[in-house]
Amino acid sequence: MIATVRNARRLEGVVALPGDKSISHRALILGSVASGRSRLSGLSPGADVQSTIRCLGELGAAFDGSTLEGYGLRGLRRAGPLDCGNSGTTMRLLAGLLAAQDFKSELIGDESLARRPMDRVVGPLGEMGAWTSWPPLRVGGKTPLHGISYTMPVPSAQVKSAVLLAGLYADGSTSVIEPVKTRDHTELMLSSMGAPILVEGLKVQIGPTNRLEPLDIDVPGDISAAAFWLVAGGLVPGSRVRIPGVGINPTRTAFVELLRATGFKVREANRRYVGGELVADLEVTSAFSLRPIRIGGDTAAKMIDELPVLAVAATQMPGQSVITGAAELRVKESNRIVAMEEGLAAMGADITAVDDGWVINGPRTLEAARVSAQGDHRVAMALAVAALIADGRTEIDGAECVEISYPDFFDHLEYLC
Ligand code: S3P
Repeated sequence: MIATVRNARRLEGVVALPGDKSISHRALILGSVASGRSRLSGLSPGADVQSTIRCLGELGAAFDGSTLEGYGLRGLRRAGPLDCGNSGTTMRLLAGLLAAQDFKSELIGDESLARRPMDRVVGPLGEMGAWTSWPPLRVGGKTPLHGISYTMPVPSAQVKSAVLLAGLYADGSTSVIEPVKTRDHTELMLSSMGAPILVEGLKVQIGPTNRLEPLDIDVPGDISAAAFWLVAGGLVPGSRVRIPGVGINPTRTAFVELLRATGFKVREANRRYVGGELVADLEVTSAFSLRPIRIGGDTAAKMIDELPVLAVAATQMPGQSVITGAAELRVKESNRIVAMEEGLAAMGADITAVDDGWVINGPRTLEAARVSAQGDHRVAMALAVAALIADGRTEIDGAECVEISYPDFFDHLEYLC
């Protein structure tokens, strides 16, 4: 599908965000091994979460759209190859859970997922005594696992979660030490389910358990989806976009704080806890004076999914913005460093890719162009935001991939214009 996006005069309205993708995957996966019926609402409608639902269904965990029957930590049954589609979170988290089962599983995915690094999850699971092989990714059938202390070389909430899930089944305790604090939804959810989990700074420790209590959770709106509207609302003059019910877990808000520091007007109201997660209503209005962005070191890891749209914002900052420390972008659904350099350069931005990020000189007036989503949902949405501030009509090739995390994205865009 080719999406055509025109320059917007202003954006106005209230956006109903999709449910948080990370929390949705975790609620389904953890609920599938709980003892009893979980109640889940507000799940992400995206194709990635559908992949998780499909895989769990094959493993015997029935989800009817609102309740999930869990038959306990040993309640899953052997299945044929499990198709994780485009979803790295499905593949890595299930690898951790399935490595600890007494049957073998094979996890497969689409072309993009097949290219993504799985050694980072196979490594620690193997250290725990699990049988693993990759590629293709196969795990399980050799138990019991034993606890390890694992210092993660690369910040990754998916790898952390995989090791913690395996740790539920291991003899002795398992700890994960992160180089930088990544999203902690797995830890919060496991704790709410009664798992013996302890968090001390960058270290998370989990003990084995026989039982997880079922969940009752209303998934908050996805802040990584909100990021597109925050940038669009800030850059399109005269805009006012309200986004109620956004998950503002402190491990996910570094991007919003950075936007504020560069001059974006993002207001927050009605802070509350929903199912153990912090939630608020956000509102963005147009920014008046912006400052260039400088991020490097560990900071990029704290806003990894928001970096494509941050690159769009940087094209409008006066002066030189430098975004580094983001080499992980090369191994996402696409090589996001290259994809955003190509898309934004075609639209007239002054952007240079470096090994681990971009150098962007602004502000530049963007021009409509024919660009490619490169099969990557976040690239498609980031380029659509660029199109809203570009002169003319931009065509985004392969825009259907927004289905992965935000199926209503283009409907919401049209409504806001
Ligand atoms: C996610 C973790 C991040 C993120 C991805 C979702 C998660 O990946 O980019 O979109 O739900 O745990 P990494 O663990 O590879 O950093």
